[in-house]
Amino acid sequence: MQITVLNGVNLDVLGRRDPAVYGGKSLNELETRIYAWAHELEISVRCRQTNEEGLFVAWIHDAYDDGSDALVVNPGAWSHYSYAIHDALELLDVPFVEVHLSNIEEREEWRRQSVIAHLATHRVIGKGPDGYREALKYLVGASA
Ligand code: DQA
Repeated sequence: MQITVLNGVNLDVLGRRDPAVYGGKSLNELETRIYAWAHELEISVRCRQTNEEGLFVAWIHDAYDDGSDALVVNPGAWSHYSYAIHDALELLDVPFVEVHLSNIEEREEWRRQSVIAHLATHRVIGKGPDGYREALKYLVGASA
């Protein structure tokens, strides 16, 4: 099984962002853990991060025909307003899990809405880095 993990805007500065909200781990540490979990689960994972919305959309398009069986996406703030990312995800023919490190449902009003929520096969919110593990496990279980 091949899973693509896409992290979006400002997730490159994890570790420098409010640790009480996002935890103290850097993106590099998070991705190292994701690769270790993938190894445990005997799946293949590719992690990517960008601050450019167009590139994030292109990577979603790539997943359509690059052999990805599923996606895990944390678009960061784009989750709350990007109809471009919504439309790209709508075209996907494989499942995706929406992940947020923080509990967006208990934060500012504007963070409570996710324009991609209704498209997601599953959502994992407010579980920190472990949320990515839960997302991978969910996708492995769903494909069994
Ligand atoms: C986030 C939540 C978003 O509201 C925020 O803009 C982020 C990270 C999360 O993982 O908790 O950048 O997606």
